[in-house]
Amino acid sequence: MNTPWWKQAVVYQIYPRSFMDSNGDGIGDLKGITSRLDYLKKLGVDVIWLSPVYQSPNDDNGYDISDYQAIMAEFGTMEDFDELLAKAHEKGLKIVMDLVVNHTSDEHRWFVESRKGDGNRYRDYYIWRDGKEGGGLPNNWGACFGGPAWEFDEERGQYYLHLFSKKQPDLNWDNPAVREDVFDMMTWWCEKGIDGFRMDVISMISKTEDMPDGEIRGLYGDYSPYCVHGPRVHEYLREMNQKVLSKYDLMTVGETAGVTTKEACVYAGNDTGELNMVFQFEHVDVHGPYGKWNEKRMLLTRLKKILSRWQTELSGKAWNSLYWDNHDQPRAVSRFGDDRGPFRVRSAKMLATCLHMMQGTPYIYQGEELGMTNYPFKGPRDFHDIESIHAYEEWCESGRVSHEEFWPCITAVSRDNARTPMQWDDTDQAGFTTGTPWMPVNPNYREINARAELADPDSVFYHYQKLIALRKQYPIIVEGTYRLLMADSEELFVYERILGEEKLLVACNFTDHDTVFHVPREFISGTCLITNYEDGFRDGKLRAYEAMVLRNM
Ligand code: GLC
Ligand code: CA
Repeated sequence: MNTPWWKQAVVYQIYPRSFMDSNGDGIGDLKGITSRLDYLKKLGVDVIWLSPVYQSPNDDNGYDISDYQAIMAEFGTMEDFDELLAKAHEKGLKIVMDLVVNHTSDEHRWFVESRKGDGNRYRDYYIWRDGKEGGGLPNNWGACFGGPAWEFDEERGQYYLHLFSKKQPDLNWDNPAVREDVFDMMTWWCEKGIDGFRMDVISMISKTEDMPDGEIRGLYGDYSPYCVHGPRVHEYLREMNQKVLSKYDLMTVGETAGVTTKEACVYAGNDTGELNMVFQFEHVDVHGPYGKWNEKRMLLTRLKKILSRWQTELSGKAWNSLYWDNHDQPRAVSRFGDDRGPFRVRSAKMLATCLHMMQGTPYIYQGEELGMTNYPFKGPRDFHDIESIHAYEEWCESGRVSHEEFWPCITAVSRDNARTPMQWDDTDQAGFTTGTPWMPVNPNYREINARAELADPDSVFYHYQKLIALRKQYPIIVEGTYRLLMADSEELFVYERILGEEKLLVACNFTDHDTVFHVPREFISGTCLITNYEDGFRDGKLRAYEAMVLRNM
């Protein structure tokens, strides 16, 4: 079988600011990452996805880029980057860059020129509009990080569109010069030898021309029908593929919020000439009265239905990513497992097993392999993330919801949960820095840290290591088809993978108690590939958060 490398790979996502600080300024950096490559090698991953390391004023921690071809000073220099890339390659690790080209920083040179207006080469690089007659905003859209999606620029005397913060103006992809500049920049990185791109909110680059008011949701109109999977997005991705991607051996993954399986078959279809795979969000999307701010858990039947639909509907047609965690999501073990009770380790291993045995390319977010948990926020001043800060202002300080009501919702899903420093050991600041970390370390670092887990053969770390090794050993994990069993159970997630005569049974208990489960006969005499109970599996029941993978041969 001729399977491309990125279908067999396991990716590890690094949020550089919080991974490893090499110089004691409290901020993670490139040299810090380089110093930890052996750790990643030991885990067994193949690819590192670096969240943005480019020059940025950090309104959104690097997702607001002011120079795509320079490294953020706090992270180091271009020489440090070249060293990281070379060392990674020496060890057989690939590096995938975050590509944030729906928007730039308002401090990017293109925007600085664009706001000067007439007679300027960059005039139409962004989306400028006059206000409505009588002085109103061009339309009623709200921005992702709160407030309206339009900001008036005094210098130019017009409004510009920003679907995220006002320091993240949206680029005008309809302008061919913008596309050429972006493609040239991408080519420059490819020539440096990087191994791929993770494309930030790439489904939002094409906007409808008329940009009408949206349906009011919360305080503002919803832009998504006019900006997500917009009219020319596939045309632009094909052009990007033709002009850049197809010339190199890359891995490409599009962050595509709101994507359906049908759309995914276009973005990441086997022969649609766009991207290799997508990130979809359905399985982490639980909306309540305050939008995404919600402490409710998704029903297991619903989670299974969503993940299973992604398994079957892309099968043979397109490729998907597998993830529980990233820098925008709370910690998986807190969201789906037992983070404070006695089953943290077991539930972290169960979640890993459930995900890693599916079809797709698995992503591990830094610290997930240790079973790191959500942060115990005490008050809104603990937030660093622009999204959480603005959400608290917009919902609570405005008086729309009480603190008591909103607090459990925002702390359950705040992106800051994922952004506390990596827990390397049980020394001060978890070994992340010798200085004061930019964000406090989770106080549970004395118990949960890499050094302790490396010394414990039953740790979450070694469970991940084993799952990764299994994927390399058994092609069925990459190639096999998928079939859900026990769809109606609110307790168990059970599925099969099938490749010719070979079958795997993956059985996971999502509860903290024993649950009846009879192993199908064909697996009884087979082999157990992995389990999270040291004494092996017992027929008749699955114990609390038990997970096992059986093979019929
Ligand atoms: C993506 C990133 C997120 C960022 C946003 C705007 O969703 O993952 O961290 O804030 O895009 O760039
Ligand atoms: Ca540093």
